[in-house]
Amino acid sequence: MGYKVAVVGATGNVGREMLNILAERQFPVDEIAALASRRSLGTECSFGDQTVKTQDLDTFDFTGWDIALFAIGSGPTKEYAPKAAAAGCVVIDNSSLYRYDPDVPLIVPEVNPGAIHGYAKKNIIANPNCSTAQMVVALKPLHDRATIKRVVVSTYQSVSGSGKDAMDELWLQTKGMYVPGQEVEPSVYPKQIAFNVIPHIDVFLDDGSTKEEWKMVAETKKIIDPKIKLTATCVRVPVFVGHSEAINIEFEDFLDEDEARDILREAPGIMVVDKREDGGYVTPAECVGDFATFISRIRQDSTIDNGLNIWCVSDNLRKGAALNAVQIAELLGREVLKKG
Ligand SMILES: NC(=O)c1ccc[n+]([C@@H]2O[C@H](COP(=O)([O-])OP(=O)(O)OC[C@H]3O[C@@H](n4cnc5c(N)ncnc54)[C@H](OP(=O)(O)O)[C@@H]3O)[C@@H](O)[C@H]2O)c1
Repeated sequence: MGYKVAVVGATGNVGREMLNILAERQFPVDEIAALASRRSLGTECSFGDQTVKTQDLDTFDFTGWDIALFAIGSGPTKEYAPKAAAAGCVVIDNSSLYRYDPDVPLIVPEVNPGAIHGYAKKNIIANPNCSTAQMVVALKPLHDRATIKRVVVSTYQSVSGSGKDAMDELWLQTKGMYVPGQEVEPSVYPKQIAFNVIPHIDVFLDDGSTKEEWKMVAETKKIIDPKIKLTATCVRVPVFVGHSEAINIEFEDFLDEDEARDILREAPGIMVVDKREDGGYVTPAECVGDFATFISRIRQDSTIDNGLNIWCVSDNLRKGAALNAVQIAELLGREVLKKG
C-alpha cells in the first residue's frame, strides 16, 4: 500500500521536478494529483510514463490525501497550505512562509532528520531555500568534526531559482543581443541578466543585506546550530540551472584539508570532485539533473588559524527544492506514516 500524493504547482519549475523525482526514486505512490492555478486546468504533466491532467488547486479537496508537496510561492501557500493540513494531509512546503515558524520543522534529511517528529504541531514541514540546502549538506559533517565558528559565503545563483519566467527572460535577452529589434528589457530582474551578474536577490533589508542573504543566516542556524555566525553575498548569474557557492569556513579546532576531503567523501548526499588540475572541479552545467551536492577546490585558508575554503555546486531545482522535498516525504513515510 502506498500514498496519495498531491504536487501543488505542478506546472512550475519545481513542481515538474517533483513529479520527475517521485517517479525516478520510485516513491510508493498509489494516486497522484497535479495541481496548479485555474489558468493551467487540463494542462498535461508527465509522471514517469504516465500523463496527468492538471487540476485547479482552488476547488481541490485534500481529504483522504496523505502528502502534498507545495511549490507555489508564499502568497497562495498562505491560503491553501492550512486548508490541506486541516484536511489531514501533511504539507511539505517549498516557499519561505513557514521556514522560521518555531512550530514547523525545517528539514534537510542528510542534516537534521530527527526534526521530522515536529511536523505534527501544524501538519506542515518546511523545505529550506535552495542556496541554504546545498550548503548545509556540506557544512554539517565538517561542523560535527571541528565545530564551525563562522562562515563567509558568496553565491552564484542560476535564474531557474526565480521561476520559469526568469528562465524565459535570460533566453530571450540572450537571443535579443544578436537579433536587431528583438532586444528585451528587464522585467523579472531589476537589471539585464544576459551577459551580466546581479548582486541582488529578493528584497533589501534595513541593514543593507538582502532577504536571500538573511535566509541563509537564519536557516543555517535553525537547521545546524544557532551558534554558527554566517555572512552571505547572494548574486544572480546568467546560468539556467545550478547554483554555485564559494564558502570560507572558520572552525574552533584545526581541520586539515585532506581530512576534510575524506570526511566529505563519506558524507551523505555529497560527491567530492577535487583534482588540482585543469577541469578537476565541478561547474553548474555538469550538476544538472543530478541528486548530489558536488564539492571541489577544498583547500586550507592560511590567513586564519583554522580556516578552509570549498566550492559547492548543486542542481537548485533538485537538492535546492524538489529532491529535498521528496527526501522529506521519504523520511516522513519511513519514520511516521509507515505505509509504503
Ligand atoms: N526554483 C527554485 O530553485 C526554488 C528553490 C526553492 C524554493 N522554491 C520555491 O518554490 C516555489 C515555486 O517556485 P518555481 O520556481 O517552481 O516557480 P514557477 O516556475 O514560477 O511556478 C509557479 C507554480 O505555482 C503555481 N501557482 C502560482 N500561483 C498559484 C495560485 N494562486 N494557485 C495555484 N497555483 C499557483 C503556478 O501555476 P500556473 O502555471 O497555473 O500559473 C506554477 O505551477 C516558490 O515558492 C519558490 O520560492 C524555488
